[in-house]
Amino acid sequence: MTATIPADLRERVESLTWYHTFDLPGGIVTPGFYDLRPLIPKLPLPESLAGKRCLDVGSADGFLAFEMARRGAAEVVSLDLDDSSAEDWQGDTGEEHKSGGSGRASAAFRLVRDTLGLDVERLDMSVYDLDPAEQGHFDYVVMGNLLLHLADPARALRAIGTVMKPDAELLSVEPVSLSLTVVHPRRPVAQLCPVDEPQWWTLNLRANARLMYAAEFDIVERRWPLRVQFGPSFPRLPKEWRSKSGWGWGSTLNFWLVTRQVGLPTVAVRLRLARP
Ligand SMILES: C[S@@+](CC[C@H](N)C(=O)[O-])C[C@H]1O[C@@H](n2cnc3c(N)ncnc32)[C@H](O)[C@@H]1O
Repeated sequence: MTATIPADLRERVESLTWYHTFDLPGGIVTPGFYDLRPLIPKLPLPESLAGKRCLDVGSADGFLAFEMARRGAAEVVSLDLDDSSAEDWQGDTGEEHKSGGSGRASAAFRLVRDTLGLDVERLDMSVYDLDPAEQGHFDYVVMGNLLLHLADPARALRAIGTVMKPDAELLSVEPVSLSLTVVHPRRPVAQLCPVDEPQWWTLNLRANARLMYAAEFDIVERRWPLRVQFGPSFPRLPKEWRSKSGWGWGSTLNFWLVTRQVGLPTVAVRLRLARP
């Protein structure tokens, strides 16, 4: 695919809302909510993906998918849901919040793909509906920051397993609760988030591993602790100082004073199918 740098690239970047922070030509940096650029060298990603068929599940603007294309993948598929109201929202999430993101990520994805000339296919579907008869089988799969948003993370992992070749690898990158990990170092503990949150679960390190085994994956390697840093458009401080419903003041202060500055505690896990 050849790069087509639009003359009005800066205006087009400014007209969109960004989840990921990308370096684009002309020194343009997309104002993402998150910045995965410092994380990439710390992930156990293969240096070369030459000849591999790759899948990025829950790809958002496609940062990880484009990284796989840069590493020479033969084919990259970036999967996400265009209709954000079709996501697994919790009961109290307002309608506006539910559908507010529809089409946003694919517009950002297309602008980056065309500008950088990276050959990545976009697939608009739910992870739960992955089907080897339709999507075929992949050599390498990445899944970043997705399971926390799903009502049924084990079902999603199993669905991913169905489209992996027997010797394929899955790289999972998920946030982990530092406090639950320190307090319960040996026990798998997951906390349900307040009902108006866009995420379902906060897991400790043991629960992250336990979930992978439950979905019939073997852990090959684990990197912990990593951190996902916030991007230029994530507010430095809250608009107003109030404790969010179910979290309480301790968690709210910890988020803005520590996590917001340092980044989200994150674990990266290399996985293989336990029963290929
Ligand atoms: C937190 S973002 C993570 C983006 C990216 N993978 C990363 O690590 O930075 C989660 C993404 O998962 C997508 N998503 C949520 N539910 C999904 C589902 N059932 N199937 C596929 N994608 C889903 C959302 O649209 C969103 O783009």
